[in-house]
Formats: sequence, structure tokens, C-alpha cells
Amino acid sequence: MSDYRSEWLHDPAGLAAQMPAGFTMGVATAAFQVEGAVREDGRGPSTWDTFMAQPGRIADGSDASVTDDHYHRYREDVALMKELGVDAYRFSLAWPRIQPGGTGPANKAGIAFYDRLIDELLAAGISPVATLFHWDMPEPLQHKGGWMTRDTASRFADYALLAAQAFGDRVDKWITLNEPTSVTLNGYALGVHAPGATLMFDSLPAVHHQLLGHGLAVQALRSENVTGGIGITNIHSPVVPAKDNFTTRGYAEVFDLVHNRIFADPVLLGHYPKFPFLARKLFKPLIEVDSDDLKTIHQPLDFYGLNYYAPTRIAAGPPADDRSPDGTPAPGLRGLPFHLASFPEFPTTGFGWSIAPEYLEVTLKDYAERYAGVLPPVYITEGGASFDDVVAADGSVDDADRASYLAEHLAVAFASVPGLDLRGYFAWTLMDNWEWAAGFGERFGLVRVDFETLERTPKRSYRWLQQLIASRSS
Ligand code: BGC
Ligand code: BGC
Repeated sequence: MSDYRSEWLHDPAGLAAQMPAGFTMGVATAAFQVEGAVREDGRGPSTWDTFMAQPGRIADGSDASVTDDHYHRYREDVALMKELGVDAYRFSLAWPRIQPGGTGPANKAGIAFYDRLIDELLAAGISPVATLFHWDMPEPLQHKGGWMTRDTASRFADYALLAAQAFGDRVDKWITLNEPTSVTLNGYALGVHAPGATLMFDSLPAVHHQLLGHGLAVQALRSENVTGGIGITNIHSPVVPAKDNFTTRGYAEVFDLVHNRIFADPVLLGHYPKFPFLARKLFKPLIEVDSDDLKTIHQPLDFYGLNYYAPTRIAAGPPADDRSPDGTPAPGLRGLPFHLASFPEFPTTGFGWSIAPEYLEVTLKDYAERYAGVLPPVYITEGGASFDDVVAADGSVDDADRASYLAEHLAVAFASVPGLDLRGYFAWTLMDNWEWAAGFGERFGLVRVDFETLERTPKRSYRWLQQLIASRSS
């Protein structure tokens, strides 16, 4: 627990009064982080199954083979969501459950699980929001290069088609990819996430192939006339130079390109950003792309998903250590001429990320400005914080810091930003889960999970959000 407190902590109804009419409140999870049951009902291995089994990859040496056991306990979890009062649940479909080998017909048992989950949600009055790719790539496709291989984009579209055929009549919103930025940077450049490649700038083809996969998947979903809206989720981290000089501003600009623009610009504008003259050699794989690919990537979308956690501060000079923002060492960082610096003015989460709701406003303004006239309605598809929760003798968790994080970010989300139609906010995350390379070490949940007994206990943040939702007028 930290001592971060919001003025709204004792007045959820006061904050609810600021919620725009029709605003969607949701919670989000991802298949690999919550489901467990990794060898059940014909699920095939994913890149993350392989990665988590390699020594030294996961900070606490844990794995996600059981995690929250959501695969078996989804009814209890949907009941928790219903009690919380949320309008929507964002979950991800596990590609290796639906296509165990990454190609071929659908695995019936995999489809059946999501049928049960979706029907349970609908019966509870909760809209299903399904992400197609939240990082668990079928291992056989990774063997062929994963997102470094162009063919993977077409395989992804085949999988999207199967999902559309199975769930297209009931899913309320489709999200093609979750954070291709994180997959590229953490998975292919720095090697701190699956598949553990350390390609640094040579990872750029993974950017293009994911985006192409997005475009082809949108076409596949449209060809099946799915009833739900279609979008993508990108994470945005506003980038601030630590010093106002030419060099630092230049590095900050390159980081903004790599983290934000090369993913958002092609989707919303139909082209990659203009690369600074001195960095053009580095970005060659994105400069020499086929214009037909850019047309495919630039599909009309029904909404745009934005994840926002924290801003990034860039300072000149190599990093003092090789710790990545996700907690595990990334030796490749040492070769960079700049590093991520902390913001001295902000409190931090368990991960050490800055708590800066004002930068959520900056994010929204950046989007309104950069994508003026072409931005569809926006949903914040993730936001949340990990903290070192303290469990009281009676089992309760008084996570005032997490409730405060949520309150302050919702307050920003409820205020309007000209030129941006913000329709909802999904809290990350419903319950404590397996936090990728950090294992069980970082807890983001509104609900406490005891990973020995799998018992779920709502925390104060859950009760706070429940009061907020219950007291809104529409
Ligand atoms: C990303 C960082 C980012 C942080 C907070 C991490 O997953 O790797 O680049 O700054 O999240 O948004
Ligand atoms: C990811 C989640 C992750 C969260 C916290 C997001 O980047 O989409 O899967 O758990 O950040 O690290």
C-alpha cells in the first residue's frame, strides 16, 4: 500500500454525478493471465507457455498454468462483475484454444468455453468485449517466426474469421490486437516478454506484420457481418524530455515514434509517421512498405481503444541498470543512448510507474490533435495500478491507493476533451492475476485472489467502484 489518496475516495457519488450519460464502465482481463487450464480441452501451447518455462524469465519463477482458474470459475467471476455493476467485460480469446496449432479448423471445445462465458455475461446483462490477440500466439506459428513473418498476418485473419463465425452474433465489441507496441518492444526488441527476442531495431517488421494482421482481421470480421463494433487497442504513453535541449528532445521524439506513432498513425491516418532524417536508416523497414499494405491497415473502425497507465520521461545517456519497466532485466537497454527516467514530482505504483492522471488528459488531447477529424469514438480499454496490498487479519484489503488511482483517472475521463468522443473506461483489472514477467508479484485487481486457495475477496477499490456505479443517474 502507498499513501496515494484521492479527494473522491469518500465521495464516489459526487464523482458519479460527473459521469456523462451513457458512459460505459467495464473491467478488463486477458486469457493467459486469468484462465489457467493450459492443457485442457485441446488447447495448444502458446509462446507464453514456452517462455514461462524458461529459467529466469519470470521474476518469481511462477507460471500461469493455473493462475485464477477463470476457465473453471468464470461463473463466479461473472457474478462478481454483476455485483460490481459494470456494463461490459473485456476479455481475450485464446488463439491456441480456438486453433491449437495456429491453422486449420476450430477446436470445438475451445469455442464451447467462450460460448459459455459469453452466454453467462449476456444473462447477467454485461456486454462482451472480445480481444482477439492479447499476446498468446500459438507456438507452431512462433516457430515460423511469429510476427516477424508476414504469413502470420494471414493466419491471424483466418483465426479472426473462425471467431466471427462462432461469436459474431453476440460479441458487442471486437478488439483485434492488444498493444502491438508492448509485443514489439517487450517481446521482440528487449526480450523481456515472449517470445524473448532481443532484436532491438531489427524488430520493426513485427510492427508492420501486426498492423497488417489487424487490417486483415477487420476485413475478416466485416465479411462475416458481425453485429458488434470493431476496433484496436493501442497503449499511449505521452513522452516528455527530461531536459529541454536538442539531443534530449530528439530522443524523446524517437521514443514517441516507436512507442506511440508507428502503431496509431497507420491505423488512423493510413501512413507511417515522418521519420527524423538522422533516424531514417533505422526505420527503413517501415519506410519501404507497400502502399497496398497501408490501405489494408487503414480500415474504417467503429471505435478506438486506448490503454493508458503512465507517461514516459526520456533522458539522454545510457541507463544506469538494465531493468525494464516490466521489472525484469533487458540487457539491450544498455546499448541505447537514452533511458527512461522517473518523474520526481509523481508518486509511483508497485511497478514504479508514475501516477499521473494529468497525463491521461495529455493523452486524450494528443489524440484529439494528432487524429483530428479521423478519430472514431474512443474507449479507454485499460487503466489501473499495481500496489503491495496489505491483507488485514479478517482477510480484507483496504487498497485506498488503487481506489484513488481509479478515481483520479475517471475524473479525467469524465471531463470532456474537445474533438474526442470518449465513451467508456475499463479498469485493469477485475482480479489479481498472473502479471506476465512479474508473475504473481504485481497485483492490479479490484478483487483479491489467494493463489493457494483461489478464493476471491473484493477489495475496497471494488466496493468504491460499486458505489460509484450504483449512484450514477443514467
Ligand atoms: C511499457 C512501457 C510503458 C509502461 C507504462 C510498459 O508495459 O513497456 O513502455 O511506459 O508500460 O505505460
Ligand atoms: C497489458 C496487460 C497488463 C497490464 C499491466 C497492459 O499493458 O495489456 O496485460 O497486465 O498492462 O502491466
